[in-house]
Amino acid sequence: MFDNIDQLLTEVSSFTSKGKEDTEQFRLRFNGKKGILNDLFEKFKEVPNEQKKEYGQRINTLKQAVAAKLEELKSATEITGAQEKEDLTRPGFPLETGTRHPINIVRNRINEIFRSIGFAVAEGPEIEDDWHNFSALNMPEYHPARDMQDTFFIEQNPDVLLRTHTSSVQIRYMENNEPPIRILAPGRVFRNEAVSARSHCIFHQVEGLYIDENVSFADLKQTIQYFTTELFGKSKIRMRPSYFPFTEPSAEVDVYWGLNSETDYRITKGTGWLEIMGCGMVDPSVLQNVNIDPEKYSGYAFGMGIERIVMLLYQIGDIRMFFENDKRMLEQFKSI
Ligand code: PHE
Repeated sequence: MFDNIDQLLTEVSSFTSKGKEDTEQFRLRFNGKKGILNDLFEKFKEVPNEQKKEYGQRINTLKQAVAAKLEELKSATEITGAQEKEDLTRPGFPLETGTRHPINIVRNRINEIFRSIGFAVAEGPEIEDDWHNFSALNMPEYHPARDMQDTFFIEQNPDVLLRTHTSSVQIRYMENNEPPIRILAPGRVFRNEAVSARSHCIFHQVEGLYIDENVSFADLKQTIQYFTTELFGKSKIRMRPSYFPFTEPSAEVDVYWGLNSETDYRITKGTGWLEIMGCGMVDPSVLQNVNIDPEKYSGYAFGMGIERIVMLLYQIGDIRMFFENDKRMLEQFKSI
C-alpha cells in the first residue's frame, strides 16, 4: 500500500505539463472529486490502526506534493499564458492618420504658388498695435476707412487690438528689411462681425507685397493672373477700380469662373465672375512711413480671404464649418 503511495509521489514530482489541457488532466487525476487523493482518504478507514499514523503522513505528503506541483504549473502557465495572449503574427491595428485642415491645404497651396515665383513667407503677431494695423497703412485715427473694418480692441485700450488684416505684417517687414521685398503674409485675422454662413469674426488671409525699383501695375496683373491660373486653372481675370487707403490705384480682382453648371450660376449670381481679392500699388505715403524712398521704389500689394477660396474649391456652403472641428467634415480631406 505504501509502495503505491511512493510510486504516486514520484509520478507527481516528475510530472511535466504539455499545456493547459495536460495540467487540467493532472489536477483531475489527483485532486478531482473522484481523484486519487480523495480515494486514498476514503481508504483511511480501512487502514489497520497501527498503520493509520504512517498512512496519514504519507497521504498528506502526497497531497502537499500535488498542491506544490499544481502551484508550480500554474505560475508557469501564467508566464507562458501571457505570451499566448499576444499573438505576434496578428496584423497591427491600423494607425489613424490625421488630416490637414482644408484651410491649411489651400493656404499651403497658395504659399507654394507664390514661392515658385520668389515670394517668401513672413509672419507677425495677431495682437497688434494701432501703428501697424492702421496708422502706418495710411489710416490715421479719424480716417473714415477705419469704419470698413470693425475692430476688436483689447481692454478699452485702442492701441492694443486684434489685427484686422495681415497688412500689418507687411509694415513690420518693410520696417526691418530693405527692398527688394517679395513676401507673402498668411495668417489669422479678426473682425467684429456677426457670425453667419457667409462671414465669421475669425478668418484667414493671405496678403502679398512686392517692393522694388520700377514695379508697375502690369507686374501686379501678371502675377495675379499667374496665381489664378495655377490655383483655379482659370486665367481670365478682370480688375475693377476700388479703394484701399494703403494702395493707389486700387482694384478688386474678379476671376471668370464660367457658367457651365447650375453651381456656377449660383455662386457667380449668374454673371460668371467671382471676386477673389483686393490689390493695388502701395501708396507712396505708406513707403514713407517705413522709411522706403518712394522716389526710388514702388510696389504692389494684394490680399485675399482664404475661407472664401476654400468654400469655392470644395463647395462648402457654410463658413462656420471650418471652426467647428467636426471630424466627419475634416476627415473628408484625408486624400487631398
Ligand atoms: N488689407 C485688405 C483687406 O483686408 C486687402 C488688401 C491688401 C487690399 C493689399 C489691397 C492691397 O481687405
